[in-house]
Amino acid sequence: MFSIVSGCASAGIYAQIVRVETDASFGIPSIEVVGVPGSEVRESRERVRIAIKNTGYTLRQQKILINLSPAGVRKDGTALDLPIAIGILLANELIKQDRIPYLFFMGELSLSGDILPVRGVLPAVCAAREAGLAACIVPVANLAECSELSDVQVFGASSLKECCEFINGRGTLTGVSRFAGATAGSAESRRAVRSDDFADVCGQEKAKRAALVAASGMHNIAFIGPPGSGKTMIARRLSGILPSLTYEESLELTKIYSSAGLLTGSGLLRQRPFRAPGTRITMPAMIGGGSDARPGEITLADQGVLFLDEMPEFDLRILEALRAPLQDGFVRVTGIRSAYTFPARVLLAASMNPDRTQAAGAKEYLTRISGPLWDRFDIVVRLRPVDCEELSCQLQEASGAYCTEAMQKAAEAARERQLYRFRGSEIKFNSQISPGQISVYCRSGEKGEQLLRAFCREHSVSARGYHRVLKTARTIADLADSEDIREEHLLEAVSYRCGVEDLEIKGEP
Ligand SMILES: Nc1ncnc2c1ncn2[C@@H]1O[C@H](COP(=O)(O)OP(=O)(O)OP(=O)(O)O)[C@@H](O)[C@H]1O
Ligand SMILES: [Mg+2]
Repeated sequence: MFSIVSGCASAGIYAQIVRVETDASFGIPSIEVVGVPGSEVRESRERVRIAIKNTGYTLRQQKILINLSPAGVRKDGTALDLPIAIGILLANELIKQDRIPYLFFMGELSLSGDILPVRGVLPAVCAAREAGLAACIVPVANLAECSELSDVQVFGASSLKECCEFINGRGTLTGVSRFAGATAGSAESRRAVRSDDFADVCGQEKAKRAALVAASGMHNIAFIGPPGSGKTMIARRLSGILPSLTYEESLELTKIYSSAGLLTGSGLLRQRPFRAPGTRITMPAMIGGGSDARPGEITLADQGVLFLDEMPEFDLRILEALRAPLQDGFVRVTGIRSAYTFPARVLLAASMNPDRTQAAGAKEYLTRISGPLWDRFDIVVRLRPVDCEELSCQLQEASGAYCTEAMQKAAEAARERQLYRFRGSEIKFNSQISPGQISVYCRSGEKGEQLLRAFCREHSVSARGYHRVLKTARTIADLADSEDIREEHLLEAVSYRCGVEDLEIKGEP
């Protein structure tokens, strides 16, 4: 007997639909898997055989050959256990065939026949939906992450027995619509608790304004200042003022976290990520990689903030490796026998404290960061020291101008303008405007151009720097609800570049 079952193998953060073809025929009893199975998939033969036995089915004494198609692509992970088991049971005529062509299966099996959770269920179910499969059977523990998908039915199974009874039309499985946690969980994540507020930050008006501009257009921002001036405080509060995610953005982000096995709540992620890796992070952890090409921090921060506190203290090779992804919005990740392109559209926030290495001097500390890397920052703000007197008197009067709620609202309105401007295009935020599109989206008028040219001449600004000023000015105009980029918008944008130009650290290291 021959059977075909749809399953899935993980491919980095993406899903590869796999056709599990099983043939049971006369011969020495054995189970063989072909079609470039990775080590976990090769091991599944034994797991599946014992799980089937412990579920109460007796296989015929036959030679079983399993082909995983497309046969030229390596299959990793344990999610193929369930479709392989279903394929073997079908080829042995132990379960019914009629529902199988419409079903998709995913799950790891324990020896007792329980279905265990796996990584990457959400991207797999989306791929199954695109392949036209009507219903997916996934581990019950992974059901929550699929609770907001439409146009596909998703069922959670806790054991091979339960799954087989469903296929035979004798039992039911928990469906997404009946999954109690689904709606409650997502509503909860939408009502995210915010403990850190910009209102807690005294003074530093310029830095708070710069943070708002950065969040509104997803511009990379560097905070430079003495110890205890509030750099970390302000950067950490960025997460509270980022514009909300659209449904598509939420789905994309949740797929990444699903494949990384980092989903905890139910439903889609509703908040842009804020990732703050430590200075001792390794290259694969930052960029992505490892044997199974896992996403790194730069991909986990996709559509959100990657915060490098004390940036010059990071391994310089890692900082240099961030240059290309910061420019391109994606990162190339290589695993064993595999290479993938992962998204990496982040707002890079960095803090630096030039007083930190007094022996080496401020300039040497900051020059650890190469000129091209500095060029990735649209906004550089210098914070001045806050004195205790200022702190205590300002603490008494609530700092109303900049509170997280008002700032988030402003950022949201600026985002609306950007969504409208870039409708139908790949661009999501002003910071992503390419050099070729600058003249389309960032026209600043005759007077503005004169002003900008004068600034660039004076500070010998690079071409990239010039474009960055214009993109930042576009966001500042959006915050002012203005379609025209006016002189005052350019002046503000230019003021955020002065930090870089004054550092005299242009050119390759
Ligand atoms: N502007 C400010 N308003 C209110 N509190 C502040 C401000 N700046 C600093 N503080 C207080 O000082 C603490 C340290 O601030 P923060 O960690 O942001 O400083 P930093 O600039 O990152 O310093 P470092 O360079 O040493 O990392 C804060 O937890 C807060 O209590
Ligand atoms: Mg700090």
